[in-house]
Amino acid sequence: MTATDAPVADAAIDLRPALAQVSDEIDRLFGALLAVPPDPRSKLYEAMRYAAIGGGKRLRPLLVLAASSLFHVDRQRALRVGLAVECIHVYSLIHDDLPSMDDDDLRRGKPTVHRAFDEATAILAGDSLHALAFEVLADEATHEDPFVRAELIAELARASGPSGMAGGQMMDLAAEETQLDIAAVTRLQQLKTGALIGFCLEAGAIMGRTPPEGRTRLRGYARDVGLAFQITDDLLDFEGEEAKTGKRVGKDRAAGKETFVSLLGADRARQQAAMLVAQATEYLQPYGAEADLLRAIARFAAERDH
Ligand code: IPE
Ligand code: IPE
Ligand code: MG
Ligand code: MG
Ligand code: MG
Repeated sequence: MTATDAPVADAAIDLRPALAQVSDEIDRLFGALLAVPPDPRSKLYEAMRYAAIGGGKRLRPLLVLAASSLFHVDRQRALRVGLAVECIHVYSLIHDDLPSMDDDDLRRGKPTVHRAFDEATAILAGDSLHALAFEVLADEATHEDPFVRAELIAELARASGPSGMAGGQMMDLAAEETQLDIAAVTRLQQLKTGALIGFCLEAGAIMGRTPPEGRTRLRGYARDVGLAFQITDDLLDFEGEEAKTGKRVGKDRAAGKETFVSLLGADRARQQAAMLVAQATEYLQPYGAEADLLRAIARFAAERDH
């Protein structure tokens, strides 16, 4: 199947209002959780608010909502899980931008946290958002069933640590030093970006109490969308516009980092992303209109310009 034969049943879906709504809701939740205390920790809270509120596409929270709706999960609960994964994502961005990692000065259209505050505060803001993710999941307001909460916590921990995002970041640093092939870059990206995206889909199934056997298609979808999303991130670094992405471009090439774009060239990388979107959409074939949001997200993962 090629990208052009992909089902078009969701052609009418415009993701913008859905993203705008979830952004508002996530901002409000962060605002309530991160009230600045009148003591020496105020700078830490200010830095967390600076990083977490009012920016980013909020694609991961939307993915949690989209997956949860397949299983009729209460929206407020799903939002809290979306908030938890966004906490991990924002922490990963703060640390990714540090001088010891990508050394970036622009993120979400404004100075990175270590530039706006200082490096020590940026490290602590990341650490604190990391902790906040699990505090949110452990709260009864997230789910009444402690077994469901424990599974959410275990899955998010796995997706964040050395078998997930942090492991992928380690491999990403190595990608500046060694020649990687397509298989190695695919593995790296599956961990760096794919694991957290995978959690978003898994979380819907966990809250919906769907046993692992019933999650195979969603896992396939997540794997393909995660890869398409990161290939597009690499393409945007290669040929995107800073005014749209809100971050510096041309950094991967300058760092000599092996990516899908450096290995395949931009055209083949784009084709690969489109093929992955078509494949992701195929996994949703048994679902009807209830999966249209997931279909639209898959397309957005590869067609976005920011
Ligand atoms: C950027 O993620 C880092 C990657 C894992 C590719 P996003 O493109 O989702 O960044 P925001 O949340 O919109 O800022
Ligand atoms: C970082 O990947 C992914 C994370 C886990 C934070 P990149 O380094 O490519 O992300 P950007 O391009 O800085 O957003
Ligand atoms: Mg990086
Ligand atoms: Mg980076
Ligand atoms: Mg990048």
